[in-house]
Formats: sequence, structure tokens, C-alpha cells
Amino acid sequence: MEETLPAEIAKIKLKNPTMLAAGILGMTAKSLLRVARAGAGAIVTKSVGLNPRAGYPNPTIVQVKCGLINAIGLPNPGIGIFTEEIEEYKAVEDNVPLIVSVYGFSSEEFAEVASLAVKAGADAVELNVSCPHVEKTGMEIGQDPEMLHEIVRKVKNKIKKPVIVKLTPNVSDITIYAEKAERAGADAITAINTVKAMKIDIKTAKPVLANKFGGLSGPAIKPIAVRCVYEIFEIVKIPVIGCGGISNWKDALEFIMAGASAIQIGTAIAFKDIGIFKNITKGIKLYMEKKGYRSIKEIVGQAHKK
Ligand SMILES: Cc1cc2nc3c(=O)[nH]c(=O)nc-3n(C[C@H](O)[C@H](O)[C@H](O)COP(=O)(O)O)c2cc1C
Repeated sequence: MEETLPAEIAKIKLKNPTMLAAGILGMTAKSLLRVARAGAGAIVTKSVGLNPRAGYPNPTIVQVKCGLINAIGLPNPGIGIFTEEIEEYKAVEDNVPLIVSVYGFSSEEFAEVASLAVKAGADAVELNVSCPHVEKTGMEIGQDPEMLHEIVRKVKNKIKKPVIVKLTPNVSDITIYAEKAERAGADAITAINTVKAMKIDIKTAKPVLANKFGGLSGPAIKPIAVRCVYEIFEIVKIPVIGCGGISNWKDALEFIMAGASAIQIGTAIAFKDIGIFKNITKGIKLYMEKKGYRSIKEIVGQAHKK
């Protein structure tokens, strides 16, 4: 029997608070459907742009203690082709919302990609203004409050579906960006994308990744992500989605207590398997039964209570 544990993000109803994070198993309708059927409450696709992108040459991923560093370079077929995957998913799956992650090199591009994704059936979009390894998009935009504001406004003006903004932790004060996104009309915030990082091979004395720098994910970044969610929750009224290093129900609960209304899972899928969505839902449910909680909402932000 499937565990249900209702949650809600930006008026999108989820059967449980677990979501697939962008970039992991998120490029084809087949893999997205596999995750949906494995028990995820919602699915976020790989980030997609206006034009096809090849990404970076290998090596693009390296394993480090407690995590991965990746600099894949946002490979994707472009929204023109990707709409077919969105349509294929939506034709057979209506119970697990599909959120399309979009990026662009200008606010117009963001709005155009978002609009095409929604026309193809996306239930919401997540703006990737936080990728740490591609120039002139991602983190470079997410570190510029005015640019961030313009992008969110343009996308909001163009589509009717909810707009989620995914923030980078690679700033000195993440609350400035959360507040900007909210003022520009964002419906929710995802925190966080990967932390800019590097590994050097001491045999060759060279960086391991072809791109030199990449983004660190996995358990190594969990305390940073929890801190970001906690800080953002104190500043904005829109819901926060927690992401970064979650690999079991206890991790998920930490994020919820910090202020997350739902959580996303990425790297743990590579280290474990897609049974993780059901396991986390089950673990949270058992915890709630034991403690007498009736809904997730009662736990969201508990760590802020005096
Ligand atoms: C291989 C890989 C690819 C990723 N691709 C994307 C992407 O396309 N768009 C995006 O917003 N985040 C991307 N991310 C970041 C994840 O969605 C997530 O924010 C980050 O990995 C932290 O969560 P985790 O520790 O559970 O993986 C990627 C992460 C990894 C490891």
C-alpha cells in the first residue's frame, strides 16, 4: 500500500512532501515516470533552456567524502524537443505534478522557455538561477538581486502557473535573494542548489573536473542547506522547499522543522535507490503518529518556536 501524507506547495497539492530534485533522472518521460511511480510527491525535471546544449567534456562528476562534485554544464535538448517529454509524461500521469526546471541567458529567454513548458503541460516551473558552473546564467544571475527580480517578474507576467525560484547558497546572505524573489511575485522558493567546490588530483597536480569548478551535493552540504531554509523561513511568507543532502526521513524532518513545506532529493538517489521517496514518507508518517501530529503543516518551522 502506498503511504500518503498530504503536503502543499504554492497551491499545488502533493500526495506526500517528497520531490525529485532537478538534474537527477529528469531528462526523459520514461525516467520521470519511473520516479513518479516509485512514490515521489512531485517531479522536477532536468533544467532546460531555449536551445540545445551539449554540456561539458568529461570528467564531469567526481565523488568526494560525503558527496559529489558535478560540472555537467546543463546538457539538454532545448525546450523545443523537451516539450515532447512533458506531453508524454502528462498524457499518462496526472497524480504526481510535473515541475519543469528552466534556465536562460536573459529574462526574455527564461520567460519564453517557461511559457513553452507550461503550454506543453507543466504544472509549475522552477527557475534555475543557481547553477554554479555555467557562465552568464544560473548562479551569476542568482547572485544579482536586480537581475533576479527582473527574471521572476518577466516569467510571472508570462505564465499563469506557479513560479518556484531555486536559490544558490553561494552568496553571503541568502535572505536578500529570497526576499527579492518574493517581492517579484515568486510563489515558492527552493533552497538550495549545489555549493561551488573543487577537487585536485595530487598525482597530476591538476583539477579533476574538466571545468575545474563544480557544485558540491550530498550529505556534505546538508547543514548549509538547513541553515539556508531556516534563515529564509524567517524572512518570507511564501513556502520553502528544502533541498541538499537529504538521504533519510530524519534529514527530511530537520528541513521541515527548519521551515520547509516539502523537500527535494537528488544525490541520495545515486547512492541509494528510488525507493527513498516511499521510505522517507513512511518514516515521517510513523514519527507523526508517535508524536500525535495530524499534518505536516504542524511541524513546518517548529524549530523557530521559542
Ligand atoms: C548530477 C547533478 C545534476 C544536477 N543538475 C541540476 C539541474 O539541471 N538544475 C538544477 O537546478 N539543479 C541541478 N542539480 C542540483 C540538485 O537539484 C540539488 O539542488 C543539489 O544536488 C542538492 O541536493 P542533493 O544533495 O539532494 O543532491 C544537479 C545535481 C547533481 C548532483
